[in-house]
Amino acid sequence: MEINNSLRGRDFISINDFSSDEISYIIKIAHHLKNLQKKGISQEYLKGKSLGMIFVKSSTRTRVAFEVGIYQLGGNALFLNPNDIQLGRGELIKDTARVLSRMLDGIMIRTFAHEDVLELAKWADIPIINGLTDLLHPTQIIADLMTIEEYKGKLQGIKTVFVGDGNNVAHSLLLGGAKVGMDVVVACPEGFTPDAKILELAERDAKLSGATIRVLHDPILACQNADVIYTDVWASMGQEAEAEVKEKQFAKYQVNQELMNQAKKDAIVMHCLPAKRGKEITDGVIEGPNSVVFEEAENRLHAHKAIMAAIM
Ligand code: CP
Ligand code: NVA
Repeated sequence: MEINNSLRGRDFISINDFSSDEISYIIKIAHHLKNLQKKGISQEYLKGKSLGMIFVKSSTRTRVAFEVGIYQLGGNALFLNPNDIQLGRGELIKDTARVLSRMLDGIMIRTFAHEDVLELAKWADIPIINGLTDLLHPTQIIADLMTIEEYKGKLQGIKTVFVGDGNNVAHSLLLGGAKVGMDVVVACPEGFTPDAKILELAERDAKLSGATIRVLHDPILACQNADVIYTDVWASMGQEAEAEVKEKQFAKYQVNQELMNQAKKDAIVMHCLPAKRGKEITDGVIEGPNSVVFEEAENRLHAHKAIMAAIM
């Protein structure tokens, strides 16, 4: 397949910055690149291009997917630890952005404040990819939508229930589900509902795509007839001090056999990983027949290649 220039030069900061067609196009490229890779066919769409990767927070999947991904596309990646580059000693984001723009073809950044990614994008004139902030995790959701399409054959009308904290992954799932016409339900304790602004954006898109967006506080009710059950850690990176208190507040929101019994028999279970077994998900469910978490993790590679091939 020819990857056209329609998205070339764009930043990938939020799913919401893209139209439904553009999101579908990126997912289509991801399936295509997965196919080529499985057949051992060369995929050098980014020959000679370089991606800088700034990780202020830890990562296994995102780091390896981007690094191996650009290598498979004929380019190369530089891992930029903020403790080693001058950013960690106080060099301004706007200066870093302008310097790196003269040497690289794209920057992926994972950090705390979403505003820092927006600031980087404001000053850089190469594509900026959001590798996770406290607010959003958009690259994850491209891989997740790809995975759901693989298992369910479509996205439109698929009931996807996110059980747990209304966090960055939940936010991007809401925005992504709204773009592709899914029936998205977030089941969370009161006080941990997704950000009101994100819900508003998702609802606006849902009206156009036929998606539905709901927030419920009863996990049993939420999971009834679900096609997809999705969960994530209760305490995200940066919330380590709250983990113990949250464990009590979220006890009812564990993805276990009882919740699975509410879903369709062929429902798939997803988790962005890393998981805390015995907390947000039981060992039995994550290792059980409905779990697709490792296929989902593999799809990060294909999805991230698709994002880079489209925008860089
Ligand atoms: N799901 C995810 O982003 O994993 P990493 O933190 O390992 O990158
Ligand atoms: N919500 C989690 C996702 C990790 C990939 C976090 O931000 O830590």
